[in-house]
Amino acid sequence: MSKSPEEEHPQKAFGWAARDASGILSPFNFSRRANEDDDVTVKILYCGICHGDLHYVKNEFGHSSYPLVPGHEITGIVTAVGPKVEKFKVGDHAGVAPLVRSCRACNNCNQGLENYCPGAVSAFNAIDHDGTRTYGGYSDIIVVNQHYVIRFPNSLPLDKGTPLLCAGITVYSPMKYYGLCGPGTRLGVVGLGGLGHVAVKFAKAFGMKVTVISTSPSKGKEAIERLGADSFLVSSDSEQMKAAMGTLDGILDTVSAFHPISPLIDLLTTNGKLILLGAPEKPLELSVFPLLMGRKLVGGSGIGGMREIQEMMDFAGAHNISADTEIIPMDYVNTALDRLARGDVRYRFVIDVGTTLTT
Ligand SMILES: *[C@@H]1O[C@H](CO)[C@@H](O)[C@H](O)[C@H]1NC(C)=O
Ligand SMILES: *[C@@H]1O[C@H](CO)[C@@H](O)[C@H](O)[C@H]1NC(C)=O
Ligand SMILES: [Zn+2]
Ligand SMILES: [Zn+2]
Repeated sequence: MSKSPEEEHPQKAFGWAARDASGILSPFNFSRRANEDDDVTVKILYCGICHGDLHYVKNEFGHSSYPLVPGHEITGIVTAVGPKVEKFKVGDHAGVAPLVRSCRACNNCNQGLENYCPGAVSAFNAIDHDGTRTYGGYSDIIVVNQHYVIRFPNSLPLDKGTPLLCAGITVYSPMKYYGLCGPGTRLGVVGLGGLGHVAVKFAKAFGMKVTVISTSPSKGKEAIERLGADSFLVSSDSEQMKAAMGTLDGILDTVSAFHPISPLIDLLTTNGKLILLGAPEKPLELSVFPLLMGRKLVGGSGIGGMREIQEMMDFAGAHNISADTEIIPMDYVNTALDRLARGDVRYRFVIDVGTTLTT
């Protein structure tokens, strides 16, 4: 018989968990493994609320297992390191991203693409190598192998920096891989939410010319004045869209609801690339002819590997890039998830775990 979450490991842990597909979170006692030779224990101070958390607590992907402690944008202070750990010492700022283990032997792992490893273990709602479940960052401590712990730049605030660990790498990795990072490159960013707003910041730091594309005309002012975008397109305005045809080298599409992509493909210049980062629940419609007439590409990308996450954090530290956040106490989390579902946040909720998670 398997042990209860409270008894399966030696270290006591406490967090907030969803108990069923209602997705309502409440206090939860569980445990973490002992800090092994290669492990780092992090006392969690902040955890971002990613859109993925919302899908998982409500079992929208159909494979959630309860109790479920979400959270994979985690920052805090190192409180213990194993004897083989060289990268970290007690007291360091550290981050934990959506991945906490991979096989370290496959082609993907060998290239630093642990995020595409078939044996990758997610920070929550996954089975770890010892057969126990993983629990995420809406909790007091986490124990992670050093390979999957990120050094957090001292120049960045932990609270506003924490969303970069998922939102940041999700937009940074495709910019690098698809070559959408050179000065002067004309980049479109579709959707101005948790991902989109950090995409604008990274793109501006790379010296790109950024167009934000949104269904809400109301976001135009802040896209330009607050985030520094160069221009703004209302996707439902056919005149504006027509005038912008063929003007973008690449587009990062962060929208995770079903939406038409043909109008976006029309915005691309010859050799332009449309990169999808959201995961709509039903297939999108792709008409191929426009791709042929301009050698255009439609691609995808999911988070990034450990080396690249570190590179992204270091870049963010050097360019003072962080997320625009609303910092909330732990007991506000259910309201925050409801608000996130309605798109009512500018642009990322971050839970102040360190001072507001109390037993
Ligand atoms: C967690 O454990 C503590 C101490 O053992 C207990 O006081 C508390 O009621 C427990 N909380 C929950 C939600 O089970
Ligand atoms: C870094 O960015 C934050 C807000 O994002 C701002 O408040 C701060 O002044 C910036 N620091 C520097 C050194 O530019
Ligand atoms: Zn995420
Ligand atoms: Zn692997």
